[in-house]
Amino acid sequence: MISRLPQELAGLVPGCRQRPEPLPLGGPVSQPFVNAVQQEQRRTIERYYRLHAGIYDLTRWTFLLGREALVRGTAASSAPARILEVGCGTGKNLVHLGRQFPQAGLWGLDLSGDMLVVAQKKLQKFAPRLNLVQAAYDRPVGAEPSFDLVVFSYALSMFNPGWEEALAAASRDLAEGGAIAVVDFHDSGSSLFKRWMGLNHVRLDGHLLPGLKSRFPSHRATIRPAFGGLWSYFRFVGLNFSGEGG
Ligand SMILES: C[S@@+](CC[C@H](N)C(=O)[O-])C[C@H]1O[C@@H](n2cnc3c(N)ncnc32)[C@H](O)[C@@H]1O
Repeated sequence: MISRLPQELAGLVPGCRQRPEPLPLGGPVSQPFVNAVQQEQRRTIERYYRLHAGIYDLTRWTFLLGREALVRGTAASSAPARILEVGCGTGKNLVHLGRQFPQAGLWGLDLSGDMLVVAQKKLQKFAPRLNLVQAAYDRPVGAEPSFDLVVFSYALSMFNPGWEEALAAASRDLAEGGAIAVVDFHDSGSSLFKRWMGLNHVRLDGHLLPGLKSRFPSHRATIRPAFGGLWSYFRFVGLNFSGEGG
């Protein structure tokens, strides 16, 4: 069982990196203060995905709704040269993004080395233009804003705490006019379901969409019901303009 992406694997497989090795995007960035709560939360997520990485794709497709639609919708409105998926997990979305944008450089960042090992196998054919990074997304991956598209797919609802810092990092990673595309759980009227999702480290509180809207005022957003209204999920595409947002 691998708890961290091993350095020798990172060296051997094209496109796989692990912090603190800097990305070829610019100079070093400052290390933010990580408190004990954040550290414990990260260890918990890593342990969770150590158990789930092998069965993730088989078990999640029925309820992580809207992922393909997000990629298709993004493809219809932009042609990004550099794409970052934060919390890329097993790489399912990066496969679609790689096909939709055959010229684009692909970056996948995830806290879990176990998820990245699965992603790495799945994304082999994109290796020459792929960069996988094992890290928590609490700061930009590059010193310069250089991405045209940053994607979060069912990731932000697991950043507890840390979703606001992740949005701040995304707006610094995005080039002027670049797009942020998000699909995630929105809310539920069932306290039992919310508790169940909480046990799976997902916060279902309607908190993400207002945060996204205020940080990226130029946006479009849709909320849809899932499983007969047991919960709702949202899709959001926003544009990054300096001077807008918080
Ligand atoms: C529900 S999975 C989604 C995976 C993929 N985006 C998808 O749509 O299938 C959430 C992913 O976010 C990652 N994650 C959780 N907290 C993170 C953090 N603070 N920084 C980076 N990745 C994180 C997890 O390791 C996991 O792979």
